[in-house]
Amino acid sequence: MVRLEGWERLRAKGGKVIEPRISGLGVYVPEKVMTNADWERLVDTSDEWIIQRTGIRERHVAAPEEVTSDLGVHAAKKAMDDARITAEEVDLLICATASPDTLLPSTACWMQPKLGLEGKPAFDLSAACSGFIYGLTVAGQFVRSGMYENVLVVGAELLTRVMDWQDRSICVLLGDGAGAAVVSPQGDRGRILGSKLHADGTYGELLWMPAGGTRMPATIETVEKRLHYYLMRGNELFKIAVKCMAEATGELLQELGMANEDIDWVIPHQANMRILQALAKRLRVSWERVVVNIQRYGNTSAASIPLAFREALDDGRIKKGDKILLVSFGGGLTWGALMIEW
Ligand code: COA
Repeated sequence: MVRLEGWERLRAKGGKVIEPRISGLGVYVPEKVMTNADWERLVDTSDEWIIQRTGIRERHVAAPEEVTSDLGVHAAKKAMDDARITAEEVDLLICATASPDTLLPSTACWMQPKLGLEGKPAFDLSAACSGFIYGLTVAGQFVRSGMYENVLVVGAELLTRVMDWQDRSICVLLGDGAGAAVVSPQGDRGRILGSKLHADGTYGELLWMPAGGTRMPATIETVEKRLHYYLMRGNELFKIAVKCMAEATGELLQELGMANEDIDWVIPHQANMRILQALAKRLRVSWERVVVNIQRYGNTSAASIPLAFREALDDGRIKKGDKILLVSFGGGLTWGALMIEW
């Protein structure tokens, strides 16, 4: 059978409504685990402070020879297996990352040959911790329009290599990992009902990497001043996070004609346990309905939602027909909410 691609598919579709679904989900974390006790030996911090302020107990750290695209490839292969599709059937690869292999080319391009997708379109999407929700939304539009059938969305982060291991205000928070989804019209689960995306660049300097781009090209001085690492004003972000995520959820619920009570599961970006508790309260969702695994992974940015999602599927919490809210917040600022019917 000849597979139609791109605009050919678009023309052949002829007005039919196509519903995007998550037809496969895969995750990967590097083997090495780093505990709070390990951090106590490296910076002026304590297990007690980290647990009380963030909820984090341990995180995974990539091996020296691993790069972001490697983590993404592991997760992508599992997602393709879960969706029962071959590389041949993938039409587009999107990689959401804030810790790319290189600035040029994209991490998606580094991943592509490792996945056997040579020749297929591939690009990166930069939306920091909201990258997975942004990616699912973009993929959903390609599927809905009929242009592509199987879109592979990867959230891959190797944050322990872009953070300052001497800056205790951020290093204890972050971890490495990857998650991937196949978005396609296939199957009977994972229907994407809608999404709301937002960004506000006026807050860009609350979480950024000052040097290494055109704004501040790399010099000996920028390296000496440690400007090639993430800089975060965590306290200010904290205050905005809950408000933004709750508002995006409210807009989405209204658009879908749903109420807070209709949400069966909230799968939020795992940035801080206290943010998640405040969010649950604000959304009037009981804490048992919030999927939380920050204790074991820390903040893995674009990978955190798929990591929590896969866990709740594997342990049987999520049942067919459940309404699942994905909600995130991150550097940019970017934030968003996306609803799925499983
Ligand atoms: N260990 C011990 N003490 C630490 C520390 C650490 N790892 N990091 C910071 N501190 C200290 C600070 O220096 C400060 O000390 P001071 O009062 O003597 O100045 C004190 O702890 C309180 O710092 P503060 O930044 O006000 O703490 P906080 O309660 O806001 O918690 C974060 C800090 C980063 C955990 C929290 O603000 C947060 O999670 N923010 C949101 C992060 C986020 O959402 N990121 C973007 C989305 S991915």
